[in-house]
Amino acid sequence: MSARLLITGANGQVGWHLQRTLSPLGTVLALSRDQLDLADLDSVASTIRDFGAQIVVNAAAYTAVDKAESEPELAHVVNALAPARMAAELAKTGGLLIHYSTDYVFDGSKEDAYAENDPTGPLNVYGRTKLEGEQAIAATGCGHIILRTTWVYDVRGKNFLRTVLRLAREREELRMVSDQFGAPTWARTIAEATAEILVQILKPGSSEIPRATPEQTGVFHLTAAGKTSWAEFADAIIKEYEDCCSWAADTSEYGAPLMAKRVVPITSDQYPTPARRPRNSVLSNAKVQSVYGIAMPEWRDQLRLAMQDAIR
Ligand SMILES: NC(=O)c1ccc[n+]([C@@H]2O[C@H](COP(=O)([O-])OP(=O)(O)OC[C@H]3O[C@@H](n4cnc5c(N)ncnc54)[C@H](OP(=O)(O)O)[C@@H]3O)[C@@H](O)[C@H]2O)c1
Repeated sequence: MSARLLITGANGQVGWHLQRTLSPLGTVLALSRDQLDLADLDSVASTIRDFGAQIVVNAAAYTAVDKAESEPELAHVVNALAPARMAAELAKTGGLLIHYSTDYVFDGSKEDAYAENDPTGPLNVYGRTKLEGEQAIAATGCGHIILRTTWVYDVRGKNFLRTVLRLAREREELRMVSDQFGAPTWARTIAEATAEILVQILKPGSSEIPRATPEQTGVFHLTAAGKTSWAEFADAIIKEYEDCCSWAADTSEYGAPLMAKRVVPITSDQYPTPARRPRNSVLSNAKVQSVYGIAMPEWRDQLRLAMQDAIR
């Protein structure tokens, strides 16, 4: 009998790819919001029990950062209470929870890349509820791995890359924030790294519930390498798209020509949003590299591969 893995948020950016990268590792049940609503805490617990999940990979989250400012209760239930309930259920059977968190647990005032044990200080409701989720999971005593990532994008779903390409088809000039820094991280890379982590924990062909060593558990940062701003990222998206389109004979959404000629950098003050965002979102991957040997690739290289994936 192989390991039983439950994936939540199956239609999200990371959840989509997890279904593909985790399928060789055991019996996988991947559920979308329609099939498992995290706001229904009793269903969360009964689904884990009924499936006999040994590992839960929780890719579901309330991720609408600005909307969370006006829906703090729902964000709290989905981002804090639901993962806590997963962890409490798994703790009963010695299972493992893999959970994702965010750079938004930090206030962004540090000059260098954040390490896992740097002081937190979320600036918005989303970040606060994600931090509460981290703390609530740890409090249950369940074996857990929390992967904090940043600026997630994919060629599907709702994200910055898709927004930039839509705007670039409509306008000649895009105004983008240039004083927030981070590392855009492709959802597929996160899913691949998650699979690599699990391969190192699971015993191949064994029905035993995986027992990660203390060193292998806790909080880890997992983002693309390098650093950029939203404005530079937008510029790179347009350039990579145009490079790919020059050799792609495609008439789909990703083959359409762009109008945008330039990205105009603006400050955060010129683009007010309901939720405040950290100025510095750069996280250090040193811990995941030293514990798991995972070397996260440069954001720009990943962007090129993601774009080729969409257009080819
Ligand atoms: N996106 C980012 O930039 C970013 C940055 C840092 C960290 N993270 C973290 O990375 C993880 C994966 O995020 P992602 O980028 O894959 O986000 P995503 O694309 O927004 O996917 C989140 C998924 O969660 C689902 N969901 C929302 N509320 C739910 C509920 N009540 N019950 C069940 N499912 C629910 C959504 O369902 P619908 O499809 O129905 O909306 C969506 O499929 C999350 O923990 C997130 O906090 C994301």
